[in-house]
Amino acid sequence: MTTQPTILVTGGASGIGFAVVEAALAAGWRVVAADVDGRSLAAARDALGAGDGLRFEQIDVADEDAVAKSVAAIERDFGPLAGVVNSAGIGQNVPALETSAAQFRKILDVNLVGTFLVAREAAKAMRNRGRGAIVNLASVSGITGNLGRAAYGASKGGVVILTKVLAVEFAPLGIRVNAIAPGPIDTPMVKAMHVEAAREVWLSRVPQHRYGAPSEVASMALFLLDAEKSGYITGQTFCVDGGFSAAGIILSGL
Ligand SMILES: NC(=O)c1ccc[n+]([C@@H]2O[C@H](COP(=O)([O-])OP(=O)(O)OC[C@H]3O[C@@H](n4cnc5c(N)ncnc54)[C@H](O)[C@@H]3O)[C@@H](O)[C@H]2O)c1
Repeated sequence: MTTQPTILVTGGASGIGFAVVEAALAAGWRVVAADVDGRSLAAARDALGAGDGLRFEQIDVADEDAVAKSVAAIERDFGPLAGVVNSAGIGQNVPALETSAAQFRKILDVNLVGTFLVAREAAKAMRNRGRGAIVNLASVSGITGNLGRAAYGASKGGVVILTKVLAVEFAPLGIRVNAIAPGPIDTPMVKAMHVEAAREVWLSRVPQHRYGAPSEVASMALFLLDAEKSGYITGQTFCVDGGFSAAGIILSGL
């Protein structure tokens, strides 16, 4: 990457997105932290401090006009985008039989349509420079059938295939598109979704027998953004999951 590339991180006020913002700032990049939640954005601003190389945007990634305006404003006032990390997401553990159409649509709207809209608008800007990188947050729940994840899993499975399609369409534009499928990562979302019993079950399925840290996902995102390190990688989904997706039966005492 050139010196001081500018990246946009959605969901940048919390969890994995916030860790990406921190890591990118530490690497000397210019960063836009975008989030729908004003209170989390204010807390992120308090934690990171204001600086020339950091901008906060309050946007809903599922709002097509807002995304287009936001990307245009970033390009005009802050810096030409070199990359995007789509970390904005919502989750819910609901049995399929109890999932309403409205719940299903809401999760698809944020996790899948929102990811698409941000990727599309960023690509329109980045294609003029013939280079760029997009990193989407999928999930191991988009690869395996996890209980209670009909809508969430479908949205993340959608992100996996969206990543492949965009990688193919954007390759001639010089834009790479990859995804990360995290396993259980200790973030506010997971603290809300994983009650104690669920935590035990997850731990029993993760060979490393621990939850990951947001910074462990952020370092993969930075690798995928950096063309000098990952220039020949596109269309891929990388599990950062302590071995969860690799494991079959895990017997203790062997
Ligand atoms: N934490 C995990 O274990 C885990 C595992 C697999 C995948 N993921 C994915 O990683 C991403 C980040 O998750 P996290 O655990 O850091 O969650 P988090 O809740 O800590 O952070 C997500 C952020 O996205 C923001 N957001 C939600 N809806 C938005 C919208 N419409 N527009 C803009 N911002 C919005 C939230 O306000 C929040 O700040 C999500 O896409 C999630 O599905 C997380």
